[in-house]
Amino acid sequence: MTMQSLQTSEEWKLTNGQFQRICNLVYEHCGINLHEGKKELVRSRLSKMLRKYKLGSFDDYIKMVLEDATHSAFSEMIDLISTNLTSFFREPKHFEYLMQIFLPSLIQKKKSDGRCRIRAWSAGCSSGEEPYSMAITLLEAARDQGVLDIRILASDISTRILQRAQAGFYESDRVANMPQVLKSRYLKMNKEKNGRIFYEAGPALRNIIAFRYLNLMEPWPFRGPFDFIFCRNVMIYFDKATQQRLVNRFWDLLDCGGLFFTGHSESLTGIQHRFAYIQPTIYRKP
Ligand SMILES: C[S@@+](CC[C@H](N)C(=O)[O-])C[C@H]1O[C@@H](n2cnc3c(N)ncnc32)[C@H](O)[C@@H]1O
Repeated sequence: MTMQSLQTSEEWKLTNGQFQRICNLVYEHCGINLHEGKKELVRSRLSKMLRKYKLGSFDDYIKMVLEDATHSAFSEMIDLISTNLTSFFREPKHFEYLMQIFLPSLIQKKKSDGRCRIRAWSAGCSSGEEPYSMAITLLEAARDQGVLDIRILASDISTRILQRAQAGFYESDRVANMPQVLKSRYLKMNKEKNGRIFYEAGPALRNIIAFRYLNLMEPWPFRGPFDFIFCRNVMIYFDKATQQRLVNRFWDLLDCGGLFFTGHSESLTGIQHRFAYIQPTIYRKP
């Protein structure tokens, strides 16, 4: 570490009281449960905001966040604290289960019932890789199956990350593991003047995804029903009581037979719910 970066990173002290006020604000607003171990992370990430707004202390920063009627300072704070890590076809077993087992029977059932509406939700979609992977899986399963009305809701609390999701541009290494046939069907390859290659989500994907700001802790302005919901690697930041409320709200919005997917390090153990267990991190509403 250079002398300069040492000085910069130690510029602002975050007292226990200030940390606790930030924790309470974040928890009350979006359910994210920061614990003592996150203090240094919070301090170093939010120091950027003190620098940006030329503030003298974390007290000034908290005051600014609370007084900002547009809530953009709050959004910025959540952006910095939460992690947006994601990837295409992350946790491939979920997509395999959809493709091989769930979607073929769902599509047959819809067709025999004379319904063609399929709805899915990526709750906490981050920069878009998850809903785009869901869209590719749905469109692949629906190939040669006649006309189906497929829509995916992709929501997140971070407006910054949603803009990236909506833009739908990805460096080539982000899609390196995607089979070539899927890349050529659903993504558009672009080459910059300097030779750098990046991929763009194509119209077939964009046409079926609606990106929306949504704080999962607040009322949801839609009623479903959804055929499947992904809420993966989001609840990990919430305490058990918040997770339980959320899981039961997802249940309410799922169609009978619908699936609920959580992240690999999340489980519904210790949570009261009515889902049937299918395999690790996959649950079904009977
Ligand atoms: C680690 S990413 C997970 C992305 C994707 N689901 C996946 O598994 O790859 C977690 C996302 O949850 C979002 N998030 C955190 N708290 C939220 C809340 N209260 N409401 C909505 N989204 C939230 C974050 O902004 C972030 O984009």
